[in-house]
Amino acid sequence: MSANQPSATPTVTRLARYTKADQEEILGTGDDPFGVAGAGLTWLPKEDHFGVRLDGRLVAHAGLLRLPVAIGDVRTEVMGVGGVAVAPAVRGRGLARLVLAAALDHARTRGPAHALLFCRPPLVPLYQRLGWHPLPLDTDVLVEQPGSALVTMPLRTMTTPLRDTASLPAGRVRLYSLPM
Ligand SMILES: CC(C)(COP(=O)(O)OP(=O)(O)OC[C@H]1O[C@@H](n2cnc3c(N)ncnc32)[C@H](O)[C@@H]1OP(=O)(O)O)[C@@H](O)C(=O)NCCC(=O)NCCS
Repeated sequence: MSANQPSATPTVTRLARYTKADQEEILGTGDDPFGVAGAGLTWLPKEDHFGVRLDGRLVAHAGLLRLPVAIGDVRTEVMGVGGVAVAPAVRGRGLARLVLAAALDHARTRGPAHALLFCRPPLVPLYQRLGWHPLPLDTDVLVEQPGSALVTMPLRTMTTPLRDTASLPAGRVRLYSLPM
């Protein structure tokens, strides 16, 4: 089979880079492809990128970034997950599940015991289906913004353990970085 033919089961590859053009290949050139512009936040680019190509076109992506945090009074690190995106024409076929599974397989090799992501409230059930857990609504999650501002994350925070025995400490979450 040539590299350009779609295979029956799409495979995830580690991407050497992930540019704005790559994101636009997946989500198009709209102003607010993630539906989070209303939050008015500045986001970090991710460091590690995983993608799915169909017929040579990038159609799915998930990014990873290791981040310092405090959870309650525990200083630790988490694997931040972000930029999860699937092209509109191929949604509902398990590509988010596939690309996130590959990203989390890699995250498990990095050390932190938990992965963390932010999402719009309507996506909470989707991520729960994929094994993620929402932090309770009354848990404050503080993230940094340019100019040393510390702001409360208005989106939902979801976590998933990266080790069988990992349990998340209780309490307020504070990212020592911009959100991812
Ligand atoms: C969110 C997004 C990535 C989902 O991609 P997708 O490829 O359609 O997702 P999948 O097909 O892998 O579905 C994942 C799982 O969630 C389930 N699911 C989908 N919608 C659901 C819902 N409303 N409630 C519960 N489960 C849901 C699916 O059935 C699937 O589970 P299954 O594999 O057990 O059947 C895609 O819609 C997208 O790119 N949206 C725009 C960008 C965005 O908002 N990204 C999220 C940033 S946090």
